[in-house]
Amino acid sequence: MWSDGREALADCSLGDRDRVLDVGCGTGAFTRVLTEETPRDATVVGVDADPELLAVASERDSSEDGRAPCCPQYITGDATRLPVGDDAVDLASCQALLINLPSPAAAVRELVRSSSDLVAAIEPNNAAVAVASTVDRETTLEREARAAYLEGVGTDVALGDRVETLFEDAGLVDVQSRRYLHEKRTAPPYDDRSLESAARKASGAGLDAHREALCGALSTAAYDDLRQRWRAMGREVVAGMRDRDYERVELVPFEVTVGRVQ
Ligand SMILES: C[S@@+](CC[C@H](N)C(=O)[O-])C[C@H]1O[C@@H](n2cnc3c(N)ncnc32)[C@H](O)[C@@H]1O
Repeated sequence: MWSDGREALADCSLGDRDRVLDVGCGTGAFTRVLTEETPRDATVVGVDADPELLAVASERDSSEDGRAPCCPQYITGDATRLPVGDDAVDLASCQALLINLPSPAAAVRELVRSSSDLVAAIEPNNAAVAVASTVDRETTLEREARAAYLEGVGTDVALGDRVETLFEDAGLVDVQSRRYLHEKRTAPPYDDRSLESAARKASGAGLDAHREALCGALSTAAYDDLRQRWRAMGREVVAGMRDRDYERVELVPFEVTVGRVQ
């Protein structure tokens, strides 16, 4: 994300931030964007519950030495009990975190507590994802699987459009949203990630990774039926890649919501 333009981050005023928090930073994809866009002497701290992801983030930062203006720091911590004091930063942010939490409001309260000025959340609306593919049944099968996933997963993965309300309920003012359309395009020449994704479609491994959520909405027999059709679609994708005539475009709408602490 963010390699094709960062206008949607304008309300974060990154150019005049001193101390920035990226909560649920994972392997640091958004933390690096914050580091690149804030002043050279700003402090950027990534927090995540998973220390293994933080280790990958640190490793990537050191292997990309010289690209980022300064290196972010990483701390292990829970988004609902942040390991920082009140008003510790002037921007508390997260990207694709709230959709994973059973109580996103509790995490928003912590973002508000930790910031003296701005709070920002970049969250997708996974109910509005659009897919176009040269393999016709990929579009319909993905729609079918997404509907079951949205119903069966235990968190609100379509939260993007409702973050404004969460922010206002938490007492933030001047709340504004901008849309960022994240485009994922697959076309020849295929990179390793696209080849791996196609192989996971054909083997069923990609679908199996979400089995628990899908089976929250589907019976075992319905899941097995979906998996069989999914694998056949995957084999068609692999064949299309072999012939170099497979193309796919996925558009994921993210809402960048920013509010100010009163
Ligand atoms: C979808 S990933 C997003 C990672 C990163 N922000 C990005 O945009 O690439 C969600 C991240 O939230 C983290 N996470 C989930 N629950 C958390 C919690 N309660 N406290 C802190 N981090 C959490 C996960 O470990 C994971 O790294």
